[in-house]
Amino acid sequence: MRPHHLWLAGVLLAGPAMAEDQRQLTTLPPPAQETLRQEMLNNLVALNDILTLVATDKLREAGAIAEQQLGLSAQDRHRDKPFEARPGPHMPPAMHALAMEGHRAASEFAKAAQTEERDRALALLPNLTSACVSCHASWRIR
Ligand code: HEC
Repeated sequence: MRPHHLWLAGVLLAGPAMAEDQRQLTTLPPPAQETLRQEMLNNLVALNDILTLVATDKLREAGAIAEQQLGLSAQDRHRDKPFEARPGPHMPPAMHALAMEGHRAASEFAKAAQTEERDRALALLPNLTSACVSCHASWRIR
């Protein structure tokens, strides 16, 4: 490990003791919060399905779920809900950008998986979870 990695590990280990939440707080209307929470639970299921399918070499199926559930196709899924129940329009631009990045990453993976470009799909797979991690690491809504 390079020294700054050790330093980072130290900070992470000391994290719970410091217990200061560095994430930015943004508040969404309660109906949008509820929509977001349901979407998040769905995201985790989708991710689990994708990993299971990739592990059993069912790349096309993994790609289809990635596109439908996490990709650009899923981006406008709340457009028919009342405005106060749609999370996207209430997010600060920087947070919304992370959401968009996640949809793009999922679609990029989906394209490679659906055309059975195995090496490329595997190389793109971690971008799916990176999108979750980068938003969770910087934003909270309560
Ligand atoms: C644009 C930001 C953003 C992205 C991207 C994002 N999340 Fe979340 N996620 C949140 C926020 C904000 C909460 C907290 C919701 C709350 O407090 O009710 C959350 C909460 C969750 C929860 C907890 C739900 C609950 O019942 O409390 C899960 C599980 C989750 N996210 C999974 C994921 C997964 C998996 C991904 C990636 C595929 C992902 N999230 C991507 C913002 C994001």
